[in-house]
Amino acid sequence: MALILAIETSCDETSAAVVRDGVDILANIISSQIDVHKKFGGVVPEVASRKHLELINGVIREALDTAGIGFESLDAVAVTHGPGLVGALLVGVSAAKALAYALDIPLIAVNHLEGHIYANFLAEPGLEFPLVCLVVSGGHTDLVVMYGHGSYRVVGRTRDDAAGEAFDKAARAMGLGYPGGPLIDRLAAGGCGTAIALPRAYLEEGSLDFSFSGLKSAVVNFLHNARQRGEEVNTADLAASFQQAVVDVLVFKSMEAALQYRAGTVLLAGGVAANRLLRSGMSEASARHGLRVVCPPPVLCTDNAAMIACAAYYRFLKGDFADLSLNAVPNLELDRENF
Ligand code: KG4
Ligand code: ZN
Repeated sequence: MALILAIETSCDETSAAVVRDGVDILANIISSQIDVHKKFGGVVPEVASRKHLELINGVIREALDTAGIGFESLDAVAVTHGPGLVGALLVGVSAAKALAYALDIPLIAVNHLEGHIYANFLAEPGLEFPLVCLVVSGGHTDLVVMYGHGSYRVVGRTRDDAAGEAFDKAARAMGLGYPGGPLIDRLAAGGCGTAIALPRAYLEEGSLDFSFSGLKSAVVNFLHNARQRGEEVNTADLAASFQQAVVDVLVFKSMEAALQYRAGTVLLAGGVAANRLLRSGMSEASARHGLRVVCPPPVLCTDNAAMIACAAYYRFLKGDFADLSLNAVPNLELDRENF
């Protein structure tokens, strides 16, 4: 049995979780800083680091109290060491190193994107490889083929904006606020996805890469032109049309990747995986192609430490530990040599 405490501080959520054997979530405390950053229209890195520092000890304490255990029961401590904001990551990494040293237990370093992927293994530890995973967050849009635990190959990625970034930028242009993803998701439910013609970037034949900056510009131009003509914009239709354009491309390329790499299952991961149209669109397309689609519950799609604990569990089983020289790596990539 392995009881792992995990810490996640890569962006604007301070989170600590206690997970048993990679499946039983005994605690998953998530303290969001969204209200602090909202007034700036996005995450302010310096403010995020300071907030993490204020919150980290209380969040770890709460995770242990909720789990009903003391520090002495832990078998390992895991932490996100990248990618993310360097000052934010450092708070979690320092806390985890201090705990591992003081408790004399193994320290496990987890890649944040790997954590998002493993949110799927929390509920379904027996998923069969190879898998294709679409990682869609505020900073990433990656198509990853997974050959086994800890073994990845990134086969497609965005060439400009990440999908979440596109949602956030489009929402800002529409005056909706931050973060834009959930706001567009909600507003789009009352709009028509085919009302406004917006571009979809499929790129070269066979490419599994993405590009969302043209779509974002099309939304900005549409709003600008309407304003100049003095026309009222139906924001629900615009939100729905934008969302449909993003989802169409994400679904199409995920299906292509699954067929190309002979994967029977497609996983969704990252904050944008909470999007309702993406979830339903992926399910429908998967059914048409005879594939299975798995996605974590929405609370495990956005940043949380339970997913980090789950990824750490498979490293724990392999004895893959970090030492106390572990540092934050803001542009850390998924390991590509391991397959
Ligand atoms: O994974 P995450 O919590 O943080 C990063 O690692 O970036 O993802 C945050 C991103 C934000 O861009 C947010 O707007 C987007 O996920 N997001 C959504 C939804 N919920 C969060 N995008 C579309 N629909 C949603 N329901
Ligand atoms: Zn994330």
